[in-house]
Amino acid sequence: MMSKNFRRAGAALFVTALTAASLVACSSEQAPQGGGDGGDGGGESAAASDTIVLGFSQVGAESGWRAANTKSIQDTLTQENGFDLKFSDAQQKQENQIQAIRSYIQQQVDVIAFSPVVETGWDAVLEEAKAANIPVILTDRAVDSEDDTLYESFIGSDFVEEGKRAGEWAVEQYDGEGYKAVELQGTTGAAPMIDRQQGFADAIAGSDIEMIDSQTGNFTRTEGKQVMEGFLQKYDDIDLVFAHNDDMGLGAIEAIEAAGKVPGKDIKIITVDGVKDGMQALADGKINYIVECNPLLGPDLAEIAKKVVAGEEVEKRIVTQDEAFDQEAAKAALPDRQY
Ligand code: AHR
Repeated sequence: MMSKNFRRAGAALFVTALTAASLVACSSEQAPQGGGDGGDGGGESAAASDTIVLGFSQVGAESGWRAANTKSIQDTLTQENGFDLKFSDAQQKQENQIQAIRSYIQQQVDVIAFSPVVETGWDAVLEEAKAANIPVILTDRAVDSEDDTLYESFIGSDFVEEGKRAGEWAVEQYDGEGYKAVELQGTTGAAPMIDRQQGFADAIAGSDIEMIDSQTGNFTRTEGKQVMEGFLQKYDDIDLVFAHNDDMGLGAIEAIEAAGKVPGKDIKIITVDGVKDGMQALADGKINYIVECNPLLGPDLAEIAKKVVAGEEVEKRIVTQDEAFDQEAAKAALPDRQY
């Protein structure tokens, strides 16, 4: 990895060369959405100091998990810690993320980090970052690309493992009872949606738990509730819900209660995340099991970004460690829960 100032010179040349091409299109686009990215030419100010200018494109604000993840990043990548953080919220839209990344390239930031809303469709913009010699770090979600030189490192949970742990617990508890399950899936095409579905399906294969329907609730409480309402109208024999995150599980609880059934008893619920609201519902007996997905990725991102800028080798894949909680474990963990 080349040094920061050398890379800046390379980036400047690239941006000049690119002006006639994609940046012309970029300049007519809006600034990144809703994240307070001032577009103040951060590269220039940072060149005179050791501050690392990092452009971060967040997925959105769809869930309690996302709020905790954003807070971790903003609390860690501070001026005191040596960062000038440029943050933008893509509102769950890939086109907003691509626009934000192009803006960061144009601003010649030192590092770009992002959590890709969906897995595919990133090669072109990542090639632009690479050509500008701006390293990219993936956080939380993976990209599906043949070329792993397009990013330096990917920091985040193993989503297949999360789905598998959820499914294994379901089998351990409920196999032999002929359970009918429904699935509230995350955003279509997102890594956690694809991987959690796969992990859960693999784990229940061979048991008598039958997945009778699956639909996206887009990782939000509102859509989770709406999808569950539809399932309850369509089927009167649902025994189990696997929700790809707590928020959709919490939406499902509302729908189940409105239908006159008891969540956690008449219909069992397994979710992923472990945010406070989810853990409270688990402790209250309304959810049966939660597989944690740790959102506190700020410290790892700061460490990897510093190493990348210093030209040090970094691990290509950093897997975040996650726990899992049943109702008793949630009661014990809740008082110290950070998010
Ligand atoms: O990518 C992580 C997932 O995204 C979390 O499980 C979910 O809550 C969030 O929206």
